[in-house]
Amino acid sequence: MEKTKLRHLFEQMTFQEKIGQLVQVSPHFLDENPEEGTLTGPLQNVIMAEEDRFVVGSTLNTQTREQAAAIQKRFLEKSRLKIPLLLMADVIHGYRTIFPIPLALGASWNPALIEEMAALSAKEASSEGIQVTFSPMVDLVRDPRWGRVLESTGEDPYLNQVYAEAFVTGYQGTDLEKDHEKIAACVKHFVGYGWAEAGRDYNRVDMSEVELHQNHLPAFQAAIEAGAKLVMTSFNVFNGTPVTANKPLLETVLREQLGFDGVIISDWNAVGELINHGVAEDHTQAAQLAVAAGIDIDMTSYSYIHAQEELAPLQEAIDASVWRVLNLKNDLGLFENPYRGLTEEPIDTEALRGEARKLASQTLVLLENHDQTLPLKADTAIGLVGPFSQSQDVLGSWSLMGDPSQSVTLEAGMKPYARQLQVAPVAETTAISASEWQAIHNVFATSETLVVALGEASRESGEGASKSDITLHPVQIELLKQAHATGKKVVTVLFNGRPLDLRAVKQYSDAVLEAWFPGTEAGNAVADVLFGAVNPSGKLSMSFPYTTGQIPVYYNQIRTGRPLTEETKGYQYVSRYLDIPNEPLYPFGYGKSYATFELREIEQSTTELDPDGEIHFSGLIKNTSNYDGTETIQLYIHDQVATVSRPVKELKKFQKITVPAQSEAPFTFTLIEADLRYIHPDLSNHADPGLFDVFIGTDSLAEKVGTFKLLEGGKG
Ligand code: BGC
Repeated sequence: MEKTKLRHLFEQMTFQEKIGQLVQVSPHFLDENPEEGTLTGPLQNVIMAEEDRFVVGSTLNTQTREQAAAIQKRFLEKSRLKIPLLLMADVIHGYRTIFPIPLALGASWNPALIEEMAALSAKEASSEGIQVTFSPMVDLVRDPRWGRVLESTGEDPYLNQVYAEAFVTGYQGTDLEKDHEKIAACVKHFVGYGWAEAGRDYNRVDMSEVELHQNHLPAFQAAIEAGAKLVMTSFNVFNGTPVTANKPLLETVLREQLGFDGVIISDWNAVGELINHGVAEDHTQAAQLAVAAGIDIDMTSYSYIHAQEELAPLQEAIDASVWRVLNLKNDLGLFENPYRGLTEEPIDTEALRGEARKLASQTLVLLENHDQTLPLKADTAIGLVGPFSQSQDVLGSWSLMGDPSQSVTLEAGMKPYARQLQVAPVAETTAISASEWQAIHNVFATSETLVVALGEASRESGEGASKSDITLHPVQIELLKQAHATGKKVVTVLFNGRPLDLRAVKQYSDAVLEAWFPGTEAGNAVADVLFGAVNPSGKLSMSFPYTTGQIPVYYNQIRTGRPLTEETKGYQYVSRYLDIPNEPLYPFGYGKSYATFELREIEQSTTELDPDGEIHFSGLIKNTSNYDGTETIQLYIHDQVATVSRPVKELKKFQKITVPAQSEAPFTFTLIEADLRYIHPDLSNHADPGLFDVFIGTDSLAEKVGTFKLLEGGKG
């Protein structure tokens, strides 16, 4: 619709209709016979009058194509101005076909893969009428106790930035209005949600401005620059004020500094929760605070709709919000085609399974592989035991429309490969019955190699699923211990949504494969890797701690005045633990392959970098094995002297290269002054002149390969 027409429409709206555009309701209110009482939690007593229902602007998480079409049709029949509803949904890592969880996608170190995943998800979701996804979640995470780390791509600001852009591009494409296989992206949760104190979900967040700008904003910035149409605010208190009522954060940081001009939506019921936060007396005041702070859409707290009169003095802010919502509808072409996506043939979800399998196999991380235990040989007698051997609970908790009964079990995936496969499944992740133990011991006795499939149930990670202890349940460790005691080769396959404390798993396994929640094609993708049809290439994007007590542990830590080094290791007063190492069990960037690689002949082009110049680091990667393989070469820097204490290492570049067996390939990295910038105490982003160390390797333990001098600082 032309802007003048849109403006004309806007001018015809009553105040009630305007407020309506800013209200998001559960689809239940728009179904034919909305029944009161089907809502749970704080919403169960909400009752909406018909005149309020048919002016609302959006709904979320419709379940079927038919429901989406029926809701839109009834809405358009009943609404005076016929402004189509926006249909939003949590399409986090797939819609019906479920791809690996975002933490696994993060381990791919492959933005093209993420873009493809997002494009496929958009295709499937849009064909069921979904127009907006509440994804990507770009929260930077360092605390695996927090259950929502599974929705993040990890602990690194640069990697998160690269991935954020890939997600948005994949969802939105280049012509959102015309291309009905695309959906608008809503980047979330702005901001700091991954920083919840003590890893407890919804807990308060307190961080310095330098920390915010250096580590947390870059991924939002990248998503916004890639064109993300919406931003969702986070539930948490941020430096004292809940984000939902945090005007400086939304106005100054998000709108002015990040230049975001799209729609800001609250999280679920977060406007109403301002009462629980103790900053609003009631829903009316909550609505006033949220509108004044800059929240355009109230997701399901119904505060805006019930506070219409009291919102009248905020007319200007409301007009601006409504205009943004109308523009979003227009950008999606809804005025011309309110049934966007629904008029085309439903897509064949079966066709996506091949892609899902390929994608998932690239996200698995091989943590251990002693004596080339893996890949498995098809003609050995393999025993498969443990709670995930036949489990279909492999989709992860944020897969609302995924049907677990359609997911491939590990047993089903292994069968076509293995000539002799015996299985002793366990029904629970927290108990093994006497008869299950009996069957397990029978399998132990008659197998040559044991595959032990362990992990956490999907409900143990995700929203509201924080844990204080991130080891596997003791009964699973007992199972592994007994497998190990047989003296046979033990391969542990892990299904889980967070970094775990894997000390015992490491101790009792010959090989460990981190499979995460791989999605609908789980068993096939894992079997492809176990039997070597796919050579693993995943690399952790979040450190796996040595123990829970070490959390938060992450590679890009800030320097300390008393570092633990070779020279200081005998001293008492250095920054370390008395009982455990400082290092995580598995560091950021780590992951093995069946191939072995060497980096050679690394050269740097110059020792001095001009602010307008470039410096190159090049070398050769040699595959010294008989397997074709893919390795991710990583370049880190360290700023020797800066205005603020800088991280010991920072990832700046990476390159994923496939190298055939016994051959080599060249690689080159280029750094410029902009790569050396950082946030100063006055929040300016520029580089200081001086010395920088460079490290190149295949994980964050990368060795130093050179030093260069930046001759002059940039302007930023
Ligand atoms: C979550 C969001 C999600 C929303 C809508 C909330 O509980 O925090 O990430 O998009 O629900 O389902």
